[in-house]
Amino acid sequence: MKTIFSGIQPSGSVTLGNYLGAMKQFVELQNDYHCYFCVVDQHAITVPQDRLALRQNIRSLAALYLAIGIDPEKAILFVQSEVPAHAQAGWMMQSVSYIGELERMTQFKDKSSGREAVSASLLTYPPLMAADILLYGTDLVPVGDDQKQHIELTRDLAERFNKKYNDIFTIPEIRLPKTGARIMSLAEPAKKMSKSDPNTKSFISMLDDPKLIEKKIKSAVTDSEGTIRYDKENRPGISNLLSIYSIFSGETIEEIEQKYDGKGYGDFKTGLAKVIINELAPIQERYYELMESEELDRILDDGAERANRAAKKMLKKMENAMGLGRKRK
Ligand code: TYM
Repeated sequence: MKTIFSGIQPSGSVTLGNYLGAMKQFVELQNDYHCYFCVVDQHAITVPQDRLALRQNIRSLAALYLAIGIDPEKAILFVQSEVPAHAQAGWMMQSVSYIGELERMTQFKDKSSGREAVSASLLTYPPLMAADILLYGTDLVPVGDDQKQHIELTRDLAERFNKKYNDIFTIPEIRLPKTGARIMSLAEPAKKMSKSDPNTKSFISMLDDPKLIEKKIKSAVTDSEGTIRYDKENRPGISNLLSIYSIFSGETIEEIEQKYDGKGYGDFKTGLAKVIINELAPIQERYYELMESEELDRILDDGAERANRAAKKMLKKMENAMGLGRKRK
């Protein structure tokens, strides 16, 4: 069975972008792959976090993974900082990374621009991400479009390590969803939907209640054409909403266009809010149950134990390859 690794930062409310670009795929993939799904809290501290909010977000994200249908019998769910091999391997991967290539990462440029104090870890974020993936002999990394550059760098670093030290890493492939790899902001459809956007109308959170979802969809930016037609280049707003509709309803874009032929944005948006709410309502119900239960901690303890066992083995191989520590009989 091939191995999958993916992670999400507990850095705010999980959005429809995270769900459609990444998480929704995880649920299907867990049946056919050996899966590791991670709450990457060490990545979150590359920008300032409030400690209590971070703790809350870690639990919340773990509960959400389970609420959408991640099955702890099939997949290993864990918190990154509870598996120290990630930070240790991250350090080693930094030693095969060049500052120049890290400075070229668009996420680094975006997140550091205009900030007075940029943490060193914001720059060294990609080698830690490479460590996350490479520790488990990962074959496939399901992510959204914005992570492409990081996965390409992970492949380069793995190849560089294999060549320089010892051929121990599997070179991972990226897996993007067919639709939804880049869900756009509802307020500015030229920008990607992001949980760190200060304008809360620009994204739908997985935990928004039905009234709020309706309100946000109603205020989503479209254009003055008034027809329900997909045209990503010229009509990014309506095209983004059509993509979201299509993934939630399982209907093709053409089927939805036909359904709303001759109708306006009002009807379309009412229908869109309905398909989103239909899917999110039971997820939210399970989420609130899980947050109250002791089951969540039991699952995360078990996940950390299993991930630790696997990660330690690769860490040992990395240390041997690089000549760290002492040789043991
Ligand atoms: P993060 O936390 O920003 O996002 C989690 C996942 O959601 C996807 N995503 C989107 N997909 C479609 N449209 C959007 N608007 C959108 N916004 C976010 C992301 O592509 C991602 O798949 N660096 C990663 C976390 C990470 C990781 C890893 C991922 C750390 N280690 C190892 C995979 C493997 C990140 O910041 O994701």
